[in-house]
Amino acid sequence: MESSISSTRRCGACCRDHGQLSNADWQHRYDNAMTGWDRGRPSPILSRWVESGDLQPCEILVPGCGRGHEVIAFAEAGFTVTAVDFADAAVQSLEKELDRRGLQANVVQTDVFAFCQSKSFDAIYEQTSLCAIDPSQWETYQQLMACWLRPGGKLFACFMQSDKAGGPPFTCDISAMRRLFEEPTWQWPDDPVAAAERVEHPSGMHELAYILTRKESEQ
Ligand SMILES: C[S@@+](CC[C@H](N)C(=O)[O-])C[C@H]1O[C@@H](n2cnc3c(N)ncnc32)[C@H](O)[C@@H]1O
Repeated sequence: MESSISSTRRCGACCRDHGQLSNADWQHRYDNAMTGWDRGRPSPILSRWVESGDLQPCEILVPGCGRGHEVIAFAEAGFTVTAVDFADAAVQSLEKELDRRGLQANVVQTDVFAFCQSKSFDAIYEQTSLCAIDPSQWETYQQLMACWLRPGGKLFACFMQSDKAGGPPFTCDISAMRRLFEEPTWQWPDDPVAAAERVEHPSGMHELAYILTRKESEQ
C-alpha cells in the first residue's frame, strides 16, 4: 500500500495542488487515516542519540510533533518537552496519551510560524516537519529554529529523502540543507557524509539524521 505521505496530489477533497497544506488539510489526513508518516512508535534514531549521550535531558522543542511518539519518549526519559502542532487530532491524541501514562509535556496547538516563546531551548528535534512545509517557507522556518534555540544549542534533524518532485513530503536534499542551515548561524559536523545516520521510514523512504549546532551569536 502506498503511503499517504506521498499522496497529496490524489487527495481531491482538500489538498491544494501546489503542495502546501493548511491546518484543515492535515486534520483531514488524520480524520481519514492518511498518516503514512506515523511510525506508531518513536523513531529508532531517538534511542540511538540518547544511548550515545548526544541527547541528554534538557529543554527540548518538537515542532510539527504529530501524535508525538517522540514527545512521549522524551518525557519518559526526563526531558522538559514542548511540542507544537496545529492539527486538533494530533494534539488531542498526544494529550490523551500523556495523560494515560501520567507524563507531562507542554503541548502547544498553534501554527509553527506563530509559535513564540520568550525562553530559548537547548535542543530541537526536527522530524518530518520541515518536509511537511512548502520550500518557499523553509528560510523563515530555519530562522525561527535559530531563534528558538539558545546559542550552542543543538538541532537534531531528520532530513526526509523522498527523491521525488513536489510534496509533501518535500525532499530535504542534503546540498539544499547545507545551503539552508548555513554558516555563520549553523555548524555542521566536520565530515557531514560520514556523520549522516540513515533512518528507515515506514513509507519506504528514509531520513538522513544530523546533529547541527546553533553557533554563538558573535561567531
Ligand atoms: C508529516 S507529519 C509529522 C508528524 C511527526 N513529526 C512524526 O514524524 O510523526 C507533519 C505534522 O506537522 C504538522 N504541521 C504541518 N505544518 C504545520 C504548521 N505550519 N504548524 C504546525 N504544525 C504543522 C501537521 O499537522 C502534522 O502533524
